[in-house]
Amino acid sequence: MPPPALYNPTMAGAAILGLGACLPERVMENEEWTRWVDTSDQWIRERTGIERRRICGPDESSADLAEAAARAALADADCPIEEIDEIVVATDTPEADCPDTAAFLQHRLGARPVPTFDLAGSGCAGFLQALDLCCSRLATGRRRVLLIGVEAISRQMDWTCRDTCVLFGDAAAAVVLGRPQPNRPEVLAVTAGTDGSRAPILGRMIGGNRIPFSAEVLKQEHWSAVVMKGREVFKEAVTRMAEAGRAALELAGLSLDQVDLFVPHQANLRIIEATGKALGLPLDRVFVNVQEYGNTGSASVPLALWEARQAGRIPPGGIVLMTAFGAGFHWAGAVARF
Ligand code: ACO
Repeated sequence: MPPPALYNPTMAGAAILGLGACLPERVMENEEWTRWVDTSDQWIRERTGIERRRICGPDESSADLAEAAARAALADADCPIEEIDEIVVATDTPEADCPDTAAFLQHRLGARPVPTFDLAGSGCAGFLQALDLCCSRLATGRRRVLLIGVEAISRQMDWTCRDTCVLFGDAAAAVVLGRPQPNRPEVLAVTAGTDGSRAPILGRMIGGNRIPFSAEVLKQEHWSAVVMKGREVFKEAVTRMAEAGRAALELAGLSLDQVDLFVPHQANLRIIEATGKALGLPLDRVFVNVQEYGNTGSASVPLALWEARQAGRIPPGGIVLMTAFGAGFHWAGAVARF
């Protein structure tokens, strides 16, 4: 029996009707970071596995990436926008402080005046947390839900804080979800958890009510940097993602032997390898694209899922295990059959 924090008794499935992604055109190699901070390609590769990442152009924003990913997923699902009953955007780098990215997106996509909202604040766990929510919405009346994970973090991060800036990249990926139906890829189980006692050690603490933006705050060095205790985050990410993976499989009534592909959050190659090891999954059953895109936050899991499918890494009927971990700490796991 999984620990209570991970057990999700209201779990309900969802059909995965379409997947799509959008990557900014600009590729930034590790070497380019040496213009901004005291770092090296070798340090970044050895500590993180990251080789390059995509970076938004000067006129590109979260809503631009989200719109392109959403349109690609709708086309993949052969689903007209009129059929979408709800739009959910998982992001921590929104189009504006208020209203949410989902409102901008609803208008741009020409959707009916359906409910839309952002799920924010859970960092890289955002997409799978939102998937949990979307499954419940489908079980209680919605027919089709559009879920997008997007980050344009390069537009908000501190480009002079070497501890964190080299880790991230921009991207969006989207999924069209429907009620479970025969012969369609299906989410079988989702599970999520939170340990709020660790809230202060990962995130962006400035700009909320506790420390609002002020002239004083903006004078501080690295005021916009991501706060992160790297080693603690590393250890906890491995533990929680492995736990969430086991819990999701148990909910789905499946074992680790039955997993065809493990698609973890792409934060860091060492975290991915350690989580695979903790689960006893060999690397040939683990999908890795962190070397190409860095950590793309809420876009990371759906982007990896999209790319794994494009690359033919998911066999027909294949079981895919997904896990994510982010600020909060929040974490989540999901199992899908393709
Ligand atoms: N280039 C060169 N040196 C650097 C850089 C850089 N970009 N960043 C930090 N360093 C230095 C540090 O200052 C430190 O120097 P010091 O020894 O003189 O003090 C040295 O490198 C070693 O730092 P460590 O913290 O010991 O390095 P570590 O092996 O722990 O790797 C890292 C750091 C990559 C951040 C690692 O802890 C990690 O991956 N943690 C998880 C963080 C993460 O993934 N965050 C993303 C958000 S959360 C998530 O997605 C799960």
